[in-house]
Amino acid sequence: MFGFELTFAACPLAVAYKTIELKDYLPVHFDIITVLPDLLASPLSHSIMQRAKDKGLLTVEVHDLREFGIGKHRNVDDYQFGGGAGMVMRCEPLADMIDKLRKSRTYDEIIYLTPDGERYAQRRANQLSLGKNLLLICGHYKGIDQRLRDEYVTLEVSIGDYVLSGGELAAAVLVDSIGRLLPGVLNDETSALTDSFQDDLLAPPVYTRPAEWRGREVPPILLSGHTAAIQEWREEQAEQRTRSRRPDLLGEDE
Ligand code: ADE
Repeated sequence: MFGFELTFAACPLAVAYKTIELKDYLPVHFDIITVLPDLLASPLSHSIMQRAKDKGLLTVEVHDLREFGIGKHRNVDDYQFGGGAGMVMRCEPLADMIDKLRKSRTYDEIIYLTPDGERYAQRRANQLSLGKNLLLICGHYKGIDQRLRDEYVTLEVSIGDYVLSGGELAAAVLVDSIGRLLPGVLNDETSALTDSFQDDLLAPPVYTRPAEWRGREVPPILLSGHTAAIQEWREEQAEQRTRSRRPDLLGEDE
């Protein structure tokens, strides 16, 4: 586990744009272990994620766990000891896959996607985007054998208080949220810094043309050209929105 907390000022964008020449920037690499590799293909091959890959800023390899499945059916799961509904992912296939991957990389974190993990938030995305090699393990059924968690996993992450059918969509969420933070991935280099949550505030409302639509007008301040006043308005709006929708982010009661 990391022993420090990232603050807004230390977020990778702020650091990276000042100190790193893009040509010297090493890509962040994700290895993802899954029994459903096809599920991950689409979310990671469009728009910003594809651009990040094309620019060589992000590399993602998806590994089919069945490669190490047991027997002619390539089994990766079994009944749980003690009884109870639902299968558990066995130790050997995952351990063999992780051991193989660890021969060629040292991971900053080995992350297991699970509903009982730490609730994922922007702060964690910022921190992980400073890593170079991340290994993501997607669970299925009742999850993976506890001994694998004890043996290999350094971070357990949940993307919300609900249960998905497997960790793949959660893994895609991590890759996307981390990938878009890497320097050079977004065209407008400041835009990730003004995202919701980057300073524990929700983003202010945004408007584009036309200036009037169905009788609804854009707030006049945005058309004023007064940059400082616009900035102040945005900050006020961000705070108001956060206070009414997510008071917990301001440390206030919900
Ligand atoms: N796998 C199943 N549900 C999940 C969740 N909410 N977050 C991360 N991984 C999961």
